[in-house]
Amino acid sequence: MNKKFLDLGLQPLANNYLINQKKLSIKNNELYKLEVFFNLKSKLVSISKKIPKNKMFNNKYPYKSSMSKTMIKSFKNLHKGIIKDFNPKLFLEIGSNDGALIKNFKKNEAICVEPCNNLARITTQLGYKTYANYWDRKVAKKIKRKFGNIDVVYAANTVTHIENLDSVFQSIFDILSQNGILIIEDPSLLECLKKISYDQFYNEHIYVFSAIAVENIIKKFDFEIFDIQNISTHGGSLRYFIKHKNNKLYKIKKSVSKQINLEIKFGMKKMNVYKKFSNSVIKSKKKLLKLLKNIKNNNKKIIGYGATAKSTTVLNYCNIDNNLIDYFVDTTPDKSNKFMPGKNIKIYKYDVKLLKDVDYIFLGAWNFKDEILNKEKKFKERGGKFISHVPLPHIF
Ligand code: TYD
Repeated sequence: MNKKFLDLGLQPLANNYLINQKKLSIKNNELYKLEVFFNLKSKLVSISKKIPKNKMFNNKYPYKSSMSKTMIKSFKNLHKGIIKDFNPKLFLEIGSNDGALIKNFKKNEAICVEPCNNLARITTQLGYKTYANYWDRKVAKKIKRKFGNIDVVYAANTVTHIENLDSVFQSIFDILSQNGILIIEDPSLLECLKKISYDQFYNEHIYVFSAIAVENIIKKFDFEIFDIQNISTHGGSLRYFIKHKNNKLYKIKKSVSKQINLEIKFGMKKMNVYKKFSNSVIKSKKKLLKLLKNIKNNNKKIIGYGATAKSTTVLNYCNIDNNLIDYFVDTTPDKSNKFMPGKNIKIYKYDVKLLKDVDYIFLGAWNFKDEILNKEKKFKERGGKFISHVPLPHIF
Protein backbone atom coordinates (compact mmCIF):
# COMPACT_ATOMS: atom_id res chain seq x y z
CA MET A 1 0.00 0.00 0.00
CA ASN A 2 1.31 3.43 -1.05
CA LYS A 3 1.15 6.29 1.49
CA LYS A 4 1.72 9.89 0.46
CA PHE A 5 4.26 11.84 2.51
CA LEU A 6 5.35 14.77 0.36
CA ASP A 7 3.59 17.26 -1.88
CA LEU A 8 5.92 19.29 -4.12
CA GLY A 9 3.10 21.12 -5.89
CA LEU A 10 2.71 21.65 -9.60
CA GLN A 11 5.87 20.96 -11.56
CA PRO A 12 6.92 21.11 -15.22
CA LEU A 13 9.04 18.40 -16.86
CA ALA A 14 12.38 18.97 -15.19
CA ASN A 15 14.74 18.62 -18.16
CA ASN A 16 12.42 20.39 -20.60
CA TYR A 17 14.36 23.66 -20.90
CA LEU A 18 12.18 26.14 -22.79
CA ILE A 19 13.19 28.00 -25.93
CA ASN A 20 10.90 30.95 -25.12
CA GLN A 21 9.46 32.40 -21.94
CA LYS A 22 6.12 30.74 -21.53
CA LYS A 23 3.39 30.35 -18.95
CA LEU A 24 2.82 26.63 -18.56
CA SER A 25 -0.61 25.16 -17.94
CA ILE A 26 -2.11 21.99 -16.50
CA LYS A 27 -4.63 21.95 -19.33
CA ASN A 28 -1.90 21.50 -21.93
CA ASN A 29 -0.23 18.80 -19.82
CA GLU A 30 2.73 21.10 -19.20
CA LEU A 31 2.41 20.93 -15.42
CA TYR A 32 1.78 17.89 -13.27
CA LYS A 33 1.25 17.32 -9.57
CA LEU A 34 4.41 16.02 -7.93
CA GLU A 35 3.64 13.88 -4.90
CA VAL A 36 5.87 11.32 -3.25
CA PHE A 37 4.77 8.01 -1.74
CA PHE A 38 6.16 5.30 0.53
CA ASN A 39 5.11 1.71 -0.01
CA LEU A 40 4.50 0.11 3.37
CA LYS A 41 5.21 -3.38 2.06
CA SER A 42 8.10 -3.09 -0.39
CA LYS A 43 9.52 0.08 1.33
CA LEU A 44 9.92 1.61 -2.11
CA VAL A 45 9.67 5.41 -2.44
CA SER A 46 8.15 6.65 -5.68
CA ILE A 47 6.48 9.66 -7.25
CA SER A 48 2.81 9.50 -8.17
CA LYS A 49 2.57 10.77 -11.68
CA LYS A 50 4.27 8.80 -14.41
CA ILE A 51 5.03 10.85 -17.51
CA PRO A 52 5.15 9.02 -20.88
CA LYS A 53 8.79 8.09 -21.44
CA ASN A 54 8.99 9.60 -24.93
CA LYS A 55 8.14 12.99 -23.41
CA MET A 56 11.21 12.76 -21.17
CA PHE A 57 13.78 10.79 -23.12
CA ASN A 58 13.87 11.85 -26.74
CA ASN A 59 16.30 13.25 -29.29
CA LYS A 60 16.63 16.50 -27.35
CA TYR A 61 17.76 15.12 -24.01
CA PRO A 62 20.12 17.81 -22.69
CA TYR A 63 22.08 16.05 -19.93
CA LYS A 64 25.56 14.86 -20.84
CA SER A 65 27.64 12.88 -18.33
CA SER A 66 30.92 14.08 -19.86
CA MET A 67 30.18 17.69 -18.84
CA SER A 68 31.84 17.26 -15.48
CA LYS A 69 35.38 16.35 -14.52
CA THR A 70 34.03 14.65 -11.39
CA MET A 71 31.93 12.25 -13.48
CA ILE A 72 34.74 11.51 -15.96
CA LYS A 73 37.07 10.64 -13.08
CA SER A 74 34.42 8.53 -11.37
CA PHE A 75 33.83 6.53 -14.59
CA LYS A 76 37.58 6.00 -15.15
CA ASN A 77 37.89 4.50 -11.68
CA LEU A 78 34.77 2.40 -12.16
CA HIS A 79 36.14 0.96 -15.41
CA LYS A 80 39.38 0.00 -13.67
CA GLY A 81 37.41 -1.69 -10.87
CA ILE A 82 35.17 -3.63 -13.28
CA ILE A 83 38.16 -4.95 -15.24
CA LYS A 84 40.03 -5.88 -12.06
CA ASP A 85 37.12 -7.58 -10.27
CA PHE A 86 35.05 -9.11 -13.10
CA ASN A 87 37.07 -8.82 -16.33
CA PRO A 88 33.97 -9.13 -18.56
CA LYS A 89 34.22 -10.45 -22.12
CA LEU A 90 31.07 -8.47 -22.88
CA PHE A 91 29.90 -5.38 -21.04
CA LEU A 92 26.52 -3.74 -21.57
CA GLU A 93 25.53 -0.28 -20.40
CA ILE A 94 21.86 0.64 -20.19
CA GLY A 95 21.49 4.41 -20.48
CA SER A 96 24.97 4.95 -21.88
CA ASN A 97 24.36 8.71 -22.34
CA ASP A 98 27.24 10.29 -24.28
CA GLY A 99 29.62 7.40 -23.59
CA ALA A 100 31.41 8.88 -20.58
CA LEU A 101 31.95 5.37 -19.16
CA ILE A 102 31.90 3.30 -22.36
CA LYS A 103 34.82 5.29 -23.82
CA ASN A 104 37.05 3.50 -21.32
CA PHE A 105 36.20 0.07 -22.80
CA LYS A 106 37.48 -1.46 -26.04
CA LYS A 107 35.01 -1.21 -28.91
CA ASN A 108 34.52 -4.97 -29.28
CA GLU A 109 33.80 -5.56 -25.62
CA ALA A 110 31.04 -3.05 -24.92
CA ILE A 111 27.45 -2.50 -26.04
CA CYS A 112 25.37 0.63 -25.45
CA VAL A 113 21.63 1.02 -25.03
CA GLU A 114 20.45 4.62 -25.05
CA PRO A 115 16.93 5.82 -25.96
CA CYS A 116 17.87 9.45 -26.62
CA ASN A 117 18.91 9.62 -30.26
CA ASN A 118 21.08 12.70 -29.84
CA LEU A 119 23.18 10.76 -27.31
CA ALA A 120 23.06 7.35 -29.03
CA ARG A 121 24.51 9.04 -32.12
CA ILE A 122 27.61 10.06 -30.11
CA THR A 123 28.54 6.51 -29.05
CA THR A 124 27.71 5.18 -32.52
CA GLN A 125 30.10 7.72 -34.00
CA LEU A 126 32.73 6.69 -31.48
CA GLY A 127 32.44 3.19 -32.94
CA TYR A 128 30.48 1.40 -30.19
CA LYS A 129 27.57 -0.87 -31.02
CA THR A 130 24.65 1.24 -29.83
CA TYR A 131 20.96 0.38 -29.63
CA ALA A 132 18.92 3.60 -29.72
CA ASN A 133 16.14 2.01 -27.69
CA TYR A 134 14.40 2.12 -24.34
CA TRP A 135 15.49 -0.84 -22.28
CA ASP A 136 12.82 -3.55 -22.44
CA ARG A 137 12.48 -7.29 -23.02
CA LYS A 138 12.40 -6.80 -26.78
CA VAL A 139 15.78 -5.09 -27.01
CA ALA A 140 17.22 -7.51 -24.43
CA LYS A 141 16.19 -10.45 -26.63
CA LYS A 142 17.59 -8.79 -29.73
CA ILE A 143 20.97 -8.24 -28.07
CA LYS A 144 21.05 -11.76 -26.68
CA ARG A 145 20.31 -13.23 -30.11
CA LYS A 146 23.16 -11.29 -31.68
CA PHE A 147 25.81 -11.33 -28.94
CA GLY A 148 24.79 -14.06 -26.50
CA ASN A 149 24.90 -13.53 -22.74
CA ILE A 150 26.48 -10.55 -21.08
CA ASP A 151 28.97 -10.77 -18.20
CA VAL A 152 28.43 -7.36 -16.67
CA VAL A 153 25.39 -5.14 -17.11
CA TYR A 154 25.71 -1.61 -15.76
CA ALA A 155 23.06 1.08 -15.40
CA ALA A 156 23.67 4.40 -13.65
CA ASN A 157 20.77 6.70 -12.93
CA THR A 158 18.62 4.73 -15.31
CA VAL A 159 16.68 2.00 -13.50
CA THR A 160 14.98 4.62 -11.32
CA HIS A 161 13.69 6.26 -14.54
CA ILE A 162 11.79 3.17 -15.72
CA GLU A 163 8.29 2.57 -14.41
CA ASN A 164 7.96 -1.21 -14.51
CA LEU A 165 10.74 -2.38 -12.24
CA ASP A 166 9.86 -6.07 -12.37
CA SER A 167 10.15 -6.05 -16.12
CA VAL A 168 13.45 -4.08 -16.04
CA PHE A 169 15.09 -6.48 -13.65
CA GLN A 170 13.66 -9.59 -15.31
CA SER A 171 15.02 -8.59 -18.72
CA ILE A 172 18.43 -7.78 -17.26
CA PHE A 173 18.59 -11.08 -15.40
CA ASP A 174 17.55 -12.91 -18.60
CA ILE A 175 20.52 -11.56 -20.52
CA LEU A 176 23.18 -12.11 -17.85
CA SER A 177 25.57 -15.03 -18.20
CA GLN A 178 25.50 -17.71 -15.49
CA ASN A 179 27.91 -15.89 -13.23
CA GLY A 180 26.99 -12.50 -14.63
CA ILE A 181 26.85 -9.36 -12.52
CA LEU A 182 24.48 -6.43 -12.53
CA ILE A 183 25.77 -3.10 -11.24
CA ILE A 184 23.28 -0.33 -10.68
CA GLU A 185 23.99 3.11 -9.35
CA ASP A 186 21.36 5.57 -8.19
CA PRO A 187 20.86 8.39 -5.66
CA SER A 188 20.67 7.05 -2.12
CA LEU A 189 17.39 7.60 -0.33
CA LEU A 190 19.22 7.68 3.01
CA GLU A 191 21.41 10.56 1.77
CA CYS A 192 18.35 12.31 0.34
CA LEU A 193 16.54 12.10 3.69
CA LYS A 194 19.62 13.17 5.66
CA LYS A 195 20.39 16.09 3.33
CA ILE A 196 16.73 17.11 2.90
CA SER A 197 17.50 17.12 -0.81
CA TYR A 198 13.88 17.00 -1.89
CA ASP A 199 15.08 18.06 -5.35
CA GLN A 200 15.98 14.42 -6.01
CA PHE A 201 12.27 14.10 -6.73
CA TYR A 202 11.19 15.06 -10.24
CA ASN A 203 9.42 13.40 -13.11
CA GLU A 204 12.43 11.39 -14.30
CA HIS A 205 13.17 9.96 -10.88
CA ILE A 206 10.16 7.70 -10.59
CA TYR A 207 11.93 5.98 -7.69
CA VAL A 208 14.59 6.95 -5.17
CA PHE A 209 16.01 3.67 -3.92
CA SER A 210 17.04 2.45 -0.53
CA ALA A 211 19.09 -0.75 -0.25
CA ILE A 212 16.12 -2.20 1.66
CA ALA A 213 13.81 -1.63 -1.32
CA VAL A 214 16.31 -2.91 -3.92
CA GLU A 215 16.77 -6.08 -1.91
CA ASN A 216 13.00 -6.57 -1.74
CA ILE A 217 12.56 -6.14 -5.50
CA ILE A 218 15.32 -8.45 -6.68
CA LYS A 219 14.77 -11.30 -4.24
CA LYS A 220 11.65 -12.26 -6.24
CA PHE A 221 14.04 -13.26 -9.03
CA ASP A 222 16.46 -15.12 -6.73
CA PHE A 223 19.02 -12.36 -7.06
CA GLU A 224 20.86 -10.70 -4.19
CA ILE A 225 23.09 -7.71 -3.47
CA PHE A 226 26.66 -8.80 -2.68
CA ASP A 227 28.35 -5.44 -2.34
CA ILE A 228 27.35 -1.80 -1.90
CA GLN A 229 29.63 1.18 -2.43
CA ASN A 230 28.79 4.66 -1.22
CA ILE A 231 29.77 7.14 -3.91
CA SER A 232 29.61 10.89 -3.94
CA THR A 233 28.02 11.44 -7.38
CA HIS A 234 24.57 13.02 -7.67
CA GLY A 235 24.62 14.17 -4.07
CA GLY A 236 25.35 10.75 -2.60
CA SER A 237 24.59 7.56 -4.48
CA LEU A 238 24.78 3.84 -3.88
CA ARG A 239 26.42 1.44 -6.28
CA TYR A 240 24.82 -1.99 -5.90
CA PHE A 241 26.57 -5.17 -7.07
CA ILE A 242 23.98 -7.86 -7.75
CA LYS A 243 24.30 -11.58 -8.53
CA HIS A 244 22.19 -14.71 -8.71
CA LYS A 245 21.89 -16.59 -5.40
CA ASN A 246 23.51 -19.66 -6.99
CA ASN A 247 26.55 -17.69 -8.08
CA LYS A 248 29.15 -18.65 -5.47
CA LEU A 249 32.06 -16.80 -7.09
CA TYR A 250 31.42 -13.75 -4.97
CA LYS A 251 30.84 -13.61 -1.25
CA ILE A 252 28.32 -11.22 0.24
CA LYS A 253 30.36 -8.37 1.69
CA LYS A 254 29.76 -6.70 5.04
CA SER A 255 28.95 -3.46 3.18
CA VAL A 256 25.48 -4.84 2.42
CA SER A 257 24.32 -5.46 5.99
CA LYS A 258 26.09 -2.26 7.04
CA GLN A 259 24.05 -0.14 4.63
CA ILE A 260 20.79 -1.92 5.40
CA ASN A 261 21.36 -1.56 9.14
CA LEU A 262 22.07 2.16 8.72
CA GLU A 263 18.81 2.55 6.84
CA ILE A 264 16.83 0.59 9.43
CA LYS A 265 18.43 2.58 12.24
CA PHE A 266 17.45 5.81 10.49
CA GLY A 267 13.86 4.55 10.52
CA MET A 268 13.47 3.95 6.80
CA LYS A 269 11.17 0.98 7.20
CA LYS A 270 8.58 3.15 8.93
CA MET A 271 6.34 5.94 7.71
CA ASN A 272 7.31 8.31 10.52
CA VAL A 273 10.71 9.19 9.09
CA TYR A 274 9.12 10.24 5.79
CA LYS A 275 6.62 12.48 7.61
CA LYS A 276 9.51 14.13 9.44
CA PHE A 277 11.32 14.61 6.14
CA SER A 278 8.23 16.28 4.69
CA ASN A 279 8.11 18.77 7.59
CA SER A 280 11.78 19.57 7.07
CA VAL A 281 11.12 20.20 3.37
CA ILE A 282 8.46 22.78 4.25
CA LYS A 283 10.93 24.46 6.63
CA SER A 284 13.61 24.41 3.94
CA LYS A 285 11.32 26.21 1.49
CA LYS A 286 10.46 28.95 4.00
CA LYS A 287 14.09 29.46 4.92
CA LEU A 288 15.31 29.62 1.33
CA LEU A 289 12.67 32.18 0.34
CA LYS A 290 13.45 34.32 3.37
CA LEU A 291 17.16 34.20 2.65
CA LEU A 292 16.78 35.10 -1.05
CA LYS A 293 14.30 37.90 -0.34
CA ASN A 294 16.58 39.41 2.32
CA ILE A 295 19.46 39.50 -0.15
CA LYS A 296 17.29 41.10 -2.84
CA ASN A 297 16.01 43.69 -0.35
CA ASN A 298 19.63 44.72 0.05
CA ASN A 299 19.85 45.26 -3.70
CA LYS A 300 22.30 42.45 -4.29
CA LYS A 301 22.48 40.28 -7.38
CA ILE A 302 21.84 36.53 -7.22
CA ILE A 303 22.39 34.10 -10.07
CA GLY A 304 22.03 30.32 -10.34
CA TYR A 305 24.98 28.02 -11.14
CA GLY A 306 24.16 24.68 -12.80
CA ALA A 307 20.75 24.58 -14.48
CA THR A 308 20.02 21.16 -13.05
CA ALA A 309 16.81 19.18 -13.27
CA LYS A 310 16.95 19.29 -9.48
CA SER A 311 16.77 23.10 -9.60
CA THR A 312 13.49 22.86 -11.51
CA THR A 313 11.95 21.14 -8.49
CA VAL A 314 13.34 23.77 -6.10
CA LEU A 315 12.33 26.80 -8.20
CA ASN A 316 8.81 25.56 -8.82
CA TYR A 317 8.19 24.26 -5.31
CA CYS A 318 9.47 27.46 -3.69
CA ASN A 319 8.10 29.75 -6.40
CA ILE A 320 11.44 31.37 -7.22
CA ASP A 321 11.46 33.32 -10.46
CA ASN A 322 13.62 35.98 -12.13
CA ASN A 323 12.66 38.53 -9.48
CA LEU A 324 14.97 36.62 -7.16
CA ILE A 325 17.46 34.87 -9.44
CA ASP A 326 18.57 36.98 -12.43
CA TYR A 327 19.83 34.09 -14.59
CA PHE A 328 21.52 30.71 -14.50
CA VAL A 329 24.91 29.78 -15.95
CA ASP A 330 25.60 26.25 -17.19
CA THR A 331 28.31 24.59 -19.27
CA THR A 332 25.89 22.31 -21.20
CA PRO A 333 25.53 23.68 -24.76
CA ASP A 334 21.97 22.30 -25.15
CA LYS A 335 20.75 24.35 -22.18
CA SER A 336 22.21 27.66 -23.40
CA ASN A 337 19.84 30.53 -24.12
CA LYS A 338 16.89 28.53 -22.88
CA PHE A 339 14.74 29.09 -19.81
CA MET A 340 14.36 27.12 -16.59
CA PRO A 341 11.09 25.20 -16.96
CA GLY A 342 8.16 26.88 -15.20
CA LYS A 343 9.98 29.89 -13.80
CA ASN A 344 11.29 31.62 -16.90
CA ILE A 345 14.79 32.25 -15.63
CA LYS A 346 17.22 32.50 -18.54
CA ILE A 347 20.17 30.14 -18.82
CA TYR A 348 23.42 31.44 -20.31
CA LYS A 349 26.36 29.38 -21.46
CA TYR A 350 28.89 29.51 -18.65
CA ASP A 351 31.39 32.31 -19.02
CA VAL A 352 33.36 33.64 -16.07
CA LYS A 353 32.43 37.18 -17.22
CA LEU A 354 28.83 36.41 -16.27
CA LEU A 355 29.93 36.30 -12.60
CA LYS A 356 31.51 39.75 -12.71
CA ASP A 357 28.93 41.85 -10.88
CA VAL A 358 27.31 38.94 -9.05
CA ASP A 359 27.06 39.00 -5.23
CA TYR A 360 25.52 35.58 -4.57
CA ILE A 361 25.50 32.29 -6.46
CA PHE A 362 22.69 29.82 -5.84
CA LEU A 363 24.26 26.38 -6.29
CA GLY A 364 21.78 24.56 -8.52
CA ALA A 365 24.45 21.89 -9.05
CA TRP A 366 25.14 21.49 -5.30
CA ASN A 367 26.19 17.92 -6.05
CA PHE A 368 29.30 19.38 -7.75
CA LYS A 369 30.04 21.79 -4.91
CA ASP A 370 33.75 20.90 -4.61
CA GLU A 371 34.39 21.06 -8.35
CA ILE A 372 32.58 24.41 -8.67
CA LEU A 373 34.18 25.98 -5.58
CA ASN A 374 37.55 24.98 -6.89
CA LYS A 375 36.78 26.59 -10.24
CA GLU A 376 35.36 29.79 -8.73
CA LYS A 377 38.09 30.64 -6.21
CA LYS A 378 38.36 34.16 -7.64
CA PHE A 379 34.65 34.81 -7.08
CA LYS A 380 35.06 33.83 -3.42
CA GLU A 381 38.26 35.85 -3.04
CA ARG A 382 36.58 39.03 -4.15
CA GLY A 383 33.83 38.53 -1.56
CA GLY A 384 31.28 36.59 -3.61
CA LYS A 385 29.09 34.21 -1.62
CA PHE A 386 27.37 30.92 -2.35
CA ILE A 387 23.88 29.81 -1.36
CA SER A 388 22.91 26.17 -1.04
CA HIS A 389 19.61 24.73 0.09
CA VAL A 390 21.31 21.48 1.10
CA PRO A 391 21.15 20.27 3.85
CA LEU A 392 19.17 23.38 4.87
CA PRO A 393 19.36 26.79 3.15
CA HIS A 394 22.59 28.57 4.10
CA ILE A 395 25.17 31.04 2.82
CA PHE A 396 28.89 30.26 2.69
P1 TYD B 1 23.33 17.10 -12.83
O1 TYD B 1 24.30 16.89 -11.75
O2 TYD B 1 23.11 16.04 -13.81
O3 TYD B 1 21.97 17.41 -12.15
P2 TYD B 1 20.49 16.98 -12.58
O4 TYD B 1 20.50 15.48 -12.72
O5 TYD B 1 19.68 17.49 -11.43
O6 TYD B 1 20.20 17.70 -13.88
O7 TYD B 1 23.68 18.42 -13.64
C1 TYD B 1 24.73 19.27 -13.34
C2 TYD B 1 24.62 20.49 -14.20
O8 TYD B 1 25.56 21.46 -13.76
C3 TYD B 1 24.89 20.23 -15.68
O9 TYD B 1 23.93 20.90 -16.47
C4 TYD B 1 26.26 20.85 -15.90
C5 TYD B 1 26.31 21.93 -14.87
N1 TYD B 1 27.66 22.27 -14.42
C6 TYD B 1 28.20 23.53 -14.74
O10 TYD B 1 27.53 24.33 -15.40
N2 TYD B 1 29.47 23.84 -14.33
C7 TYD B 1 30.22 22.96 -13.61
O11 TYD B 1 31.37 23.29 -13.26
C8 TYD B 1 29.66 21.69 -13.29
C9 TYD B 1 30.46 20.71 -12.48
C10 TYD B 1 28.38 21.38 -13.71
